[in-house]
Amino acid sequence: MSTDQTTDVPPRLGLRRDGLDPAPEVTSVREAHGTCPVTTLVGHTATLVAGYAEARTVHGDPAFGFDGLPLPPGGLDADEMARRRAGMLLALDPPVHTRLRRMLTGRFTVRAMKALEPRVVAIVDDALEAMAAGGPPADLVADFALPVPSLVICELLGVPYEDRDGFQERAERTLRSDLSVEERTRLFAESREYMASLVARARRDPGEDLLGLLVREHGDRPAAEGGIDDDEMVGLANLLLVAGHETTSNVIALGTYELLRDPEQMAAMRAALDDDAATSRAVEEMLRHVTPVSAGFPRAATQDVEVGPHVISAGTVVTASLCAANRDPALGEGLDHLDVRRDPLPHVAFGYGIHHCLGAPLARIELRIAFQAILRRFPGLALATDPDAVEFRHENLIHGVEALPVTW
Ligand code: HEM
Repeated sequence: MSTDQTTDVPPRLGLRRDGLDPAPEVTSVREAHGTCPVTTLVGHTATLVAGYAEARTVHGDPAFGFDGLPLPPGGLDADEMARRRAGMLLALDPPVHTRLRRMLTGRFTVRAMKALEPRVVAIVDDALEAMAAGGPPADLVADFALPVPSLVICELLGVPYEDRDGFQERAERTLRSDLSVEERTRLFAESREYMASLVARARRDPGEDLLGLLVREHGDRPAAEGGIDDDEMVGLANLLLVAGHETTSNVIALGTYELLRDPEQMAAMRAALDDDAATSRAVEEMLRHVTPVSAGFPRAATQDVEVGPHVISAGTVVTASLCAANRDPALGEGLDHLDVRRDPLPHVAFGYGIHHCLGAPLARIELRIAFQAILRRFPGLALATDPDAVEFRHENLIHGVEALPVTW
């Protein structure tokens, strides 16, 4: 059974409009266990699936991978493609993916994150202090949601936070779907050049941060012995920098937006704040409901493979709508609504399988601490604008808001 909804120009990947809901055409694909064509960030036409089970298959079945992706249309050559993929975990298959990911897993365990907690608390408190000093009103995105995860990932990696204007803008633009091939190539080159200067610095004087760790423990070994070269280090660090801030930031901003629009949910969230476990459960529900990464990175089928009721043939480029999957009625009832008291449901907000988000333990800690701190600090937190006037960013694979004016 297929409900292929062919349009002349396939819509762009992401498929959300204003608000948090998946676009109606994606929801109908999910309900029918169908597929629909979409245009990926780099211009491939991909087959989108939207159910929870289908998303897990696309992310978890080794029949899907990145090596088999065709070169993007528009004249990108194989060398440029290889340069872009170096170190980019989210573009690599085993065994290269396994070698690089192994270098970092120890740094992102739940235990390692526990040790980082006091530093996250301090960063959150400083941001709230500055926000209180400057307002009300304030822009929750610029004053809190963005600086907190940015500062944390900068410290962890060894990237100077003063450089944030440059890398935040590049990160935001890289994930937009309306870039030309030339612009995207230039952006990649700029990001790589910037990170290459930090890798060179770490080579000269390795610190205690992640770049220092990579240089000291893996930087002088060949790949066959678990080593990493400078190009890979640049790609890996760039991925961490991009992945580590906008995603978490959007859950803080959109989660707060949802709470501020619904007094009952806000009351339930406030009642959970003194109990870390209850707040963590609420955060899990926010992750499911907000799903800031709207769709998974496109993969290609290396052989014919069953996805739900379909056989996807070898060579097909496929992507999964994570936001629609997280509201699949197969998981439970009323999933279009946030319910912070819900027993956490399984979700794919962090993906699934070997590419499951490396930073998930960090994001979970940041989110719990951020919600606890901001709601305690501002008992009267409220939107300083009409909720319908809030501007969403849906040109982007990562779903967010431009700004969130608040008062207290
Ligand atoms: C992968 C979501 C925070 C680093 C992913 C994927 C998703 C995701 C959906 C898999 C994409 C795919 O397979 O197509 C999120 C969300 C976050 C978050 C929702 C916050 C709420 C972070 C943070 C870091 C991070 C804080 C950095 C420390 C990564 C990395 C990968 C990844 C390195 C690639 C892993 C691999 O390919 O093996 N993330 N992420 N993420 N994320 Fe996150």
